Amino acid sequence: MTSTERSRRKYDQLADNYEELFFYVADMGRRLVELADPAPGTRVLDVGAGRGAVARAALARGCAVTAVDASPGMVARLTADYPELTVRQQDAGALDFPDGSFDLVTAGFVVQVLDDPAAALAEFRRVLAPGGTLALSLERQTVGRLGWLHDLYKRYFGGGSGSAMAAADLDALLDEAGFAVRPPVEVDAPKALDDAADMWWWMEAQGLPQALAALPAGRAEEFRVEFFAGAERMREEGGLVLEFGATLHLSTRP
Ligand SMILES: C[S@@+](CC[C@H](N)C(=O)[O-])C[C@H]1O[C@@H](n2cnc3c(N)ncnc32)[C@H](O)[C@@H]1O
Repeated sequence: MTSTERSRRKYDQLADNYEELFFYVADMGRRLVELADPAPGTRVLDVGAGRGAVARAALARGCAVTAVDASPGMVARLTADYPELTVRQQDAGALDFPDGSFDLVTAGFVVQVLDDPAAALAEFRRVLAPGGTLALSLERQTVGRLGWLHDLYKRYFGGGSGSAMAAADLDALLDEAGFAVRPPVEVDAPKALDDAADMWWWMEAQGLPQALAALPAGRAEEFRVEFFAGAERMREEGGLVLEFGATLHLSTRP
């Protein structure tokens, strides 16, 4: 299976409860559109639209919005949920629109999941009209008070350093693609949780059961015990919070 097929399958499986699980995307979609500040009637293309976090914020401003996604599951949900959207199943790196057909291209948390982000940025530039705006959001690696949980995952499942795209990497790619780049805006979206069971549910939805099933006998239970002890300490020391941060990147096609 290619990484594109893996990604398509992953997002198909997530389609039904995507915005419940990724609690921050709706707010971030609103903030991205607020920053781009499109006038009513602006021709917007939202790439990797998912369940519509960015597209719906642009629709709320009276924009003419087209949404594309590679996942058939996301496309089906977008079509059903937003009859006023034009929805297409397309790849970010091979958009099927004429040159210069949009005034604003948006992509919320998309560039970092692509195999070839540079190819996608070249496409975003091609379909933007001269003077048009590109608005992207990127996850910012935040640990905050969740250091104990990151350490726990590292000890049981390894990895952790990751190869996440940093804001400066994205700005360099934008510059190479020929955009006039503005400094990114940092935003935070913490989510307070009622109890440790809520945090456990959130981890389960992100694939914890599969990760635990791959551990040697007995280790899954040890993980569970350590997790609940760590969560209890965090609750006592100021409450349980999932911390999330992003950078918003606006640039202009000259
Ligand atoms: C992290 S989600 C973000 C969804 C949405 N933009 C949001 O802010 O909630 C990434 C989305 O990009 C889509 N995607 C992944 N690879 C893609 C590609 N090559 N072309 C178009 N969409 C893609 C996924 O199907 C998924 O819906």
